[in-house]
Amino acid sequence: MRIDIVTLFPNMFSSPFDESIIKRAIDSRLVEIVLHNLRDYGLGKHRVVADYPHGGGAGMVLMPEPLFAAVEAIKGKSEIPVILLTPQGRLFNQKVAEELVTYSQLILVCGHYEGVDERVREHLVTDEISIGDYVLTGGELAAMVVIDAVVRQLPGVLGSEESARDDSHSTGLLEYPQYTRPQTYRGWEVPPVLLSGNHAEIAKWRREQAILRTLARRTDLLEKADLLEEERKMVEKKSN
Ligand SMILES: C[S@@+](CC[C@H](N)C(=O)[O-])C[C@H]1O[C@@H](n2cnc3c(N)ncnc32)[C@H](O)[C@@H]1O
Repeated sequence: MRIDIVTLFPNMFSSPFDESIIKRAIDSRLVEIVLHNLRDYGLGKHRVVADYPHGGGAGMVLMPEPLFAAVEAIKGKSEIPVILLTPQGRLFNQKVAEELVTYSQLILVCGHYEGVDERVREHLVTDEISIGDYVLTGGELAAMVVIDAVVRQLPGVLGSEESARDDSHSTGLLEYPQYTRPQTYRGWEVPPVLLSGNHAEIAKWRREQAILRTLARRTDLLEKADLLEEERKMVEKKSN
């Protein structure tokens, strides 16, 4: 997979992409991340990329020319999804990450200041994504969130010890509680079933805990989750 990022602040990406799983994925050539400095496409000798909004108002708006030039230089005539990070976009979640990982190339466009000229939304980008109902200073942190969630799903990126299979949201449920050593910490015990060596019992306990945890924290997810008849009955009993 290849991910191109159009940004005014390419240096912001160096540390997050130089650590842990993303670095490993880049080193093993499972993903290629290419940064494009929007300033290189700026106008005139001062490489201008933003101007005051027509109609007045606070702040600056990213101009269409540099954004069109940057994206068109990357994609040429090919059909590649061009995603604008914006608080007005569709809400990012695991399902969207699973959808994005199916593409062999993505172009992410990071806004800044008051955002981008409306013609960029209308005629250049093919998708708009928000990482939550709050406003960030720029699209860079949002792009990092999207890339992290997408890249960890690429086959071969996670080792078996880091399997994403049971992760919260992958199954439609929140993940069950996890414990490691020591067996007793400050008098708090690990649930005995996890030490029993009985894999069927452990799987049953984990499934039940995932359901109960989702019920306690995110009933909205539980309504959409794929539950067996007896699991639905357990949920109904617990909720009464
Ligand atoms: C200060 S924001 C501009 C917000 C814009 N004036 C609005 O109200 O929609 C600057 C840039 O940060 C990015 N951004 C801010 N919040 C975001 C969010 N929740 N998700 C994705 N990107 C976001 C976008 O790229 C945006 O263009």
